Amino acid sequence: MMIFRQLFDPISSTYTYILGCEASRAAVIIDAVFEQHNRDAALLRELDLHVKYAIDTHVHADHVTGAWLMKQTFQSPTVLSGDYAAEEVDVAAKDGTVLVFGDCALTVRATPGHTNGCLTLVTQDQTMAFTGDCLMIRGAGRTDFQSGSVHTMWHSIREQIFTLPDSCLIYPGHDYLGRTVSTVGEEKHFNPRIGGDAKEEDFAGYMNNLGLPHPRLLDIAVPANLRCGKPENGEIPQSVTWGPVTLTFAGIPEIEADWVARHLKDVYVLDVRSAAEFDGDLGHIDGSVLVPLDELREHSRKIITSKPIVTVCQSGKRSAMATQILKAAGHERVANIPGGLIRWLQLALPGLVSVPPDLPNE
Ligand SMILES: [Fe+2]
Repeated sequence: MMIFRQLFDPISSTYTYILGCEASRAAVIIDAVFEQHNRDAALLRELDLHVKYAIDTHVHADHVTGAWLMKQTFQSPTVLSGDYAAEEVDVAAKDGTVLVFGDCALTVRATPGHTNGCLTLVTQDQTMAFTGDCLMIRGAGRTDFQSGSVHTMWHSIREQIFTLPDSCLIYPGHDYLGRTVSTVGEEKHFNPRIGGDAKEEDFAGYMNNLGLPHPRLLDIAVPANLRCGKPENGEIPQSVTWGPVTLTFAGIPEIEADWVARHLKDVYVLDVRSAAEFDGDLGHIDGSVLVPLDELREHSRKIITSKPIVTVCQSGKRSAMATQILKAAGHERVANIPGGLIRWLQLALPGLVSVPPDLPNE
């Protein structure tokens, strides 16, 4: 029996996979996301799994990998294709590499095309394939940067993935529409780019006219991923004990709005919008203290509390900066609410004051 978990990062729409051997508890993690490290590490601990390999299907352009962090936490070797000039790689995988974890194993199939070093990982019994950004559900990864090649990808999909059993489940590196799994047979028939009677020139025509924008994080993610996600300063982000705080690659400590809503009495909520916004349409969190961001540097040392400080604004950007100002002023236990009050409203969380308390309430 193999333990299997599919995890999702909503920011980059990345799927992370955990596979574990039921008997030995040895596991692998595929395409971990840096910002989700605390989540993934917590789940691995709860499932009593020991990571044997932290594998990346390729050098990602849209998020930073959590592989190096996994190695710091679990001493798990990092695995990446040997076709990249990357640092911090412990196992330089190539076509035919077998990664054993307990009674389970994954065999590497080289599937370049999205990048020159893309790998597909196939379980021993060929019932599951982790295709990264090569074959995706009713799609395929773009081929217009990072040494991509539409013709190389055509051969990778046809010769390395479509040769698996039709019943083999396809687990991609991303999905932007919430689809979680497909099969080889399904994609052979219904993939609009390469399925059915598609010929190489049809696939190339489709792929060469996608007209996709430049990835927003390319210039940050690729250099970081060529270090397996090791931060430039080489330091492990500090873990926090007062709440489920995660640290973004930009160094912003974050805590989810729904946790804050459930722990309002335990935290000091600092709203850094303007006074007009504080009493405006969005309202404010009950009991929160207003210090506009522009005044925070001046007043940060006057904030005296024994509670952790949670910062909030409209969308989570000004309050992200507020965490840095507070930290510089010596406040250690600080976290931002990502998405701010907009996120709070989207989740329909309780605790919002929408009518200014000093106005007559009829
Ligand atoms: Fe990718």
